[in-house]
Amino acid sequence: MAQNGDITRVELAERSYDIEIGGGNLAGLAHFLRERSRSSHAVIITDTNVDTLYADKLGDLLVDAHWEVHLLVVDAGERSKLPEVAFDLWETMLEEGSDRQSIVVAVGGGVVGDLAGFVAATFARGLDFFQVPTTLLAQVDSSVGGKVGINLPGAKNMVGAFWQPQGVLVDVDVLSTLPEREYRAGLAEVVKYGVILDADFFAYLEQHIDEINTKDAGALRHMVERCCRLKADVVEQDEREISGLRAVLNYGHTFAHAFEAASGYDQMLHGEAVSIGMMCAARLAMCMGRVDEAFVARQQTLLESLKLPITVPAFDADDLVDLMRRDKKVDDGQLRFVLPDRMGHVELVKDVRIDDVVASLGR
Ligand code: NAD
Ligand code: GLY
Repeated sequence: MAQNGDITRVELAERSYDIEIGGGNLAGLAHFLRERSRSSHAVIITDTNVDTLYADKLGDLLVDAHWEVHLLVVDAGERSKLPEVAFDLWETMLEEGSDRQSIVVAVGGGVVGDLAGFVAATFARGLDFFQVPTTLLAQVDSSVGGKVGINLPGAKNMVGAFWQPQGVLVDVDVLSTLPEREYRAGLAEVVKYGVILDADFFAYLEQHIDEINTKDAGALRHMVERCCRLKADVVEQDEREISGLRAVLNYGHTFAHAFEAASGYDQMLHGEAVSIGMMCAARLAMCMGRVDEAFVARQQTLLESLKLPITVPAFDADDLVDLMRRDKKVDDGQLRFVLPDRMGHVELVKDVRIDDVVASLGR
């Protein structure tokens, strides 16, 4: 079967790879893998929801294409990104005869992608790895760029690696089964790309609210393609987040991680926290004279049109600031924030007054 989507290329020397973005192209998975791997053994890692919807059928397709397939299913949800789950996967892979020639195929959202990528990066000192992202968040963000990892109790994404996939296959049709709330959470990351890197894309989102809200296939493909290209451009220049450029992808995230930690990681979806966090970051930029009120209002209008939350939860401001200090993005004890100075452009800012941070929380 021929390639059935458009290709976005991530150029990283010997770690370069294609992101194929299409509609209905999951059926071409065997061909996609075969073009990029000589292996004949695929370990598909998925979760309990995605297994019945897609992964089980994909396993059958690979078997029909003469692959030996093992399908490993973890519980759906963030609690599968834990060391004990990774341990179980390593053990099962060993028992089922995986070796250095095996490949790992992650079929699922960001949880499965991060976990399966971490298992691939570590089993037998590293296996080739493919991503088949099935949430909007995973299609526009987590499946691209090679950040893989698991959580420690109380420390999200604390153990991990940079382990680029050999290819990413995106089928926007799978978003039809994604729960509405998960879809909206992914849209927060989509808006993020417009604010941080592309004013024209932000304007596109403003002009296509109805299509986005009704999951129009053309709008979905355009959004995913643009976000993957923007992320690829950043990752190509700063793969390991050394120069600081890759940190722009964390717009709104210092606030968001504090909201998620304060709510115990089970009340808010990551994208919901990012939506509120982007509003705080925009207000903080306004407090510092970097953007005007119209900028903040414009971002708020788009987030509200996409039915995303914008109100800071009722946590104590001091507790939130303490949580922000514990975030991985603290540098030499200083809080750093990704702040806009105009639509489509942000900077990493270190000298931020705590009073302004508290004010940006609306306190
Ligand atoms: P998720 O993987 O938990 O998926 C959300 C829910 O949707 C799950 O219940 C899942 O079973 C279900 N689901 C997935 N695809 C479906 C489909 N097509 N139809 C129906 N249900 C479906 O959550 P997520 O938002 O995709 O990912 C969140 C994770 O991503 C977090 O752990 C976060 O740390 C990580 N992340 C990683 C990066 C990175 O660069 N590696 C970036 C952002 C987020
Ligand atoms: N999601 C942030 C990054 O990939 O760097």
